[in-house]
Amino acid sequence: MRTHYCAEVNEEHIGQEVTVAGWVSSRRDHGGLIFIDLRDKDQVIQLVCDPADNVDAHKIAEEVRDQFVLVATGKMRARGEGLENPKLKTGKVEMVVDKLVIENRSKPMPFELNDEKVNEEIKLKYRYLELRTQKSYDIFKLRSKATIATRNVLDELGFLEVETPIITKSTPEGARDYLVPSRVHGGEFYALPQSPQLFKQLLMVGGFDKYFQIAKCFRDEDLRADRQPEFTQIDVEMSFCDQEDVIAVAEKLLHDVFTKCGFDVPSKFNRMTHSEAMEKYGSDKPDMRYDLQMVDVIDIFERCDNEIFSGIAKTPKKNRIKALKVPKGDEIFSKRQMKGFEEYVRKFGASGLGYFQMKEDGLKGPLTKFFTEDDIQAIIDRCELEVGDAVFFGAGDKKLVLDYMGRFRIYLAELMEIIPKDTFEFLWVMDFPMFEVEEGKVKALHHPFTQPKSLDYEDIEDIESIAYDIVLNGTELGGGSIRIHKEEMQAEIFKLLGIDEEEAQDKFGFLLEALKFGAPPHGGFALGLDRLIMIMTGSSSIREVIAFPKTQKAQCLLTQAPSEVDAEQLKELSLRIRQQAPTA
Ligand code: AMO
Repeated sequence: MRTHYCAEVNEEHIGQEVTVAGWVSSRRDHGGLIFIDLRDKDQVIQLVCDPADNVDAHKIAEEVRDQFVLVATGKMRARGEGLENPKLKTGKVEMVVDKLVIENRSKPMPFELNDEKVNEEIKLKYRYLELRTQKSYDIFKLRSKATIATRNVLDELGFLEVETPIITKSTPEGARDYLVPSRVHGGEFYALPQSPQLFKQLLMVGGFDKYFQIAKCFRDEDLRADRQPEFTQIDVEMSFCDQEDVIAVAEKLLHDVFTKCGFDVPSKFNRMTHSEAMEKYGSDKPDMRYDLQMVDVIDIFERCDNEIFSGIAKTPKKNRIKALKVPKGDEIFSKRQMKGFEEYVRKFGASGLGYFQMKEDGLKGPLTKFFTEDDIQAIIDRCELEVGDAVFFGAGDKKLVLDYMGRFRIYLAELMEIIPKDTFEFLWVMDFPMFEVEEGKVKALHHPFTQPKSLDYEDIEDIESIAYDIVLNGTELGGGSIRIHKEEMQAEIFKLLGIDEEEAQDKFGFLLEALKFGAPPHGGFALGLDRLIMIMTGSSSIREVIAFPKTQKAQCLLTQAPSEVDAEQLKELSLRIRQQAPTA
């Protein structure tokens, strides 16, 4: 219908006839002259309807309202002096409308399209209207660019794009499954994949060597700002490789995608072991855009004259005493604020939070009385304190202390506004533990198909695996590992996870069987595409980068999913609803 997109029209078209099509983003009636801002996918053009030029077009323009769909034809002219709009690409020209067609009308908008403060529920109910904004268009344009760049780079590297099933058997990635009842096999269920993990491993057994997929994954888990029940992974697997080969592919992929999207990022990323990340930052996904590191002071506290601290310090394998220095913290925070921080860490199980202030005349604070002068100096040296600094202490159980001090680090960085915007800090976190023990139960930290470095251990939590995460600006962007390719080792890991032979056969018999038929050494990774776009675009919620997202309660407000189904459908599926499920 159009001769040009709005973005294509410029001063070169002055004097030419042009047809444009789009939505009315605003209309102003200047008593006689009517000005219409017409917007197509990504640009706005000004239309002028002058009764002196064309009575019919002006008459139609009188009926026009916001978001009506128009096709307009007319000659382009330069805007009058002083009437140019430097904010618009088309700001130097306007169209004198000769023919105006209303292709469709619109009800008044349920919300102001570019108003950031509008309640999100309304925006999600009318998501297609939100998508009409420039902000949304730009996000999805970038997403498309990143997806295409992904396909191109992986194709260049010899990877084959293969689709794996959506209605399938459960793949354990630590969340609950979404289940799909079978009509043909009453009482039986498919599961939607939490990831293509097992199928990509089977493709390696199938000899495909290098696989990738832009894969939809489904996880029924508690939702957060960077989690959706349905999300997309860039999923990669390769054979006859070691960890370095896999990392090289991930780095090339990310470097190419960022570059194609117009961002400058390094071609190699820094690395840190999981244990270093936990000990220094209290997190397996530290944000490296700012410093604030924890240091260990347990040996100094062991000598102090306070039984609680010296008691904690006596079992350094189980416990931690960590100091977090805040440069200039004593100048920035009042004493009241410092005490108030205790409230923050208590929410995460801390029994308290000690602090010292580095004054002109030495180290001060409620705890100094318990230390000798030498040990006070040892604290100053260890924490590299300068006048004006503050230092906070967490003491107690290792996991607890690392967790709340890690959260406190982020809390302080946000409070002090020291997190730079518009920078990308990548970090590989390497050598993840194979297992963690929660309430006496052994769980796989990544997933049970990860290759352990060795199975000689005293404490099961000390077993390291060949697993790595890629962290971007403090968000886990992706993860991967070298996999187990021998059936005996896989069976052993299931055993350690408390999965008995019968259950292993029932759930993963097909994998164990496949591993007996010459499975090659293999490994891979998966990146969260939605998270990648979220970080690239500086979006505060993952919902902004998903065309039709779900709410925090996993509902689609647009289609009203999930919804009840009629009795006939339930019967066909051999299902009966016993009672109304509690609402989330
Ligand atoms: P993992 O479970 O770490 O690994 O997932 C890989 C990446 O997927 C993204 N992601 C999510 N994004 C949005 N919403 C969610 N609910 C969600 N869950 C995960 C994250 C995460 O880093 N099969 C393995 C990968 C492998 O070993 O190759 C896997 O799925 O960015």
